[in-house]
Amino acid sequence: MATPKKIGILTAGGDCPGLNAAIRGVGKTAILKYGMEVIGISSGYLGLLEKDYIPLDEASLSGILTLGGTILGTSREKPFKKNHDLANTKPEKIKRNYLEEGFDAIVCIGGNGTMKTAALLAEQGLNVIGIPKTIDNDVYGTEQSFGFDSSLCIATDAIDRLHSTANSHKRIMVIEVMGHHAGWLALYAGIAGGGDVILIPELGYDMKSVNRYLKKRVKSGKPYSIVVVAEGIKKPAKLSAASYIAAKIEDGVGVETRNTILGYIQRGGSPSPMDRILASRYGARAVDLIASEDYGKMVMKSGDNISVIPLSEVGGKLNLVPADHPLIERARGFGVCFGEPGLE
Ligand code: F6P
Repeated sequence: MATPKKIGILTAGGDCPGLNAAIRGVGKTAILKYGMEVIGISSGYLGLLEKDYIPLDEASLSGILTLGGTILGTSREKPFKKNHDLANTKPEKIKRNYLEEGFDAIVCIGGNGTMKTAALLAEQGLNVIGIPKTIDNDVYGTEQSFGFDSSLCIATDAIDRLHSTANSHKRIMVIEVMGHHAGWLALYAGIAGGGDVILIPELGYDMKSVNRYLKKRVKSGKPYSIVVVAEGIKKPAKLSAASYIAAKIEDGVGVETRNTILGYIQRGGSPSPMDRILASRYGARAVDLIASEDYGKMVMKSGDNISVIPLSEVGGKLNLVPADHPLIERARGFGVCFGEPGLE
């Protein structure tokens, strides 16, 4: 009878709804299906550096499926980041602590930065499995990271609410959603929330086109307009995307314009049912990989299948909205403006 494996779980990077569902999916599968020992690692990779562990058992995993945030805490610690003293010993310290603790494997739950670190730890000989998490949905190699669906629900609900106040005051409302590099949240929430203008980093935009489009709406008697922008669009460093675009619109269109930045509300609260299911499926598949000693992989979604991709193929890349994404064409067909230059 082989000795039951001992696995660690860490959550790193920006938090999001679904992290605890993923921890629970890993933990319950490991304990109930394989009799493994499960150790929570606090605050992402920092916990590995500081040996900050929390043993997890069925009791500690009970009641966390619906909880926002992460019971393990998180950080943006990047152990491989070059620092001023070139003799960066963090990776060696992590490997030493990993071996001293007797981990057979660790599950790293996080975004593209977390996957990049996981891939580098795998190259150092650690047994690592990655689970893609982020509200931005910009982790390369998977159709969907958990966290995205929950933040999409939050952002869409917020946009729905802004229609009524925009209509009451006959205003133009600019809403900024998160999405540092990728415009997935702005694209999906913009369409789901009935946005008239959607600006995403991948497409670029021309303010003249945006204002010409909005003026046409005013002239045709539309009482208000909704403009959805991703935080990562091109804009002056000192201004938020929402305040910059709102000022440009108010000057250019001559209609009272207000802006709202949804910010961290998009990362809080209980996960959506779909994220609870996706995070749980990712967790279970990650443990199956450990049981079969198939390391150095990230679990991913392809269609309705949960499959795997080598971590070495994920690190350092982003999942960005392609310019020819069918949803963009469809939205244009609904009359949505993406700020394309030269718009009539
Ligand atoms: O990566 C997710 C994300 O929420 C981005 O959309 C956002 O720009 C960033 O994290 C904010 O980072 P922090 O939580 O460190 O302020």
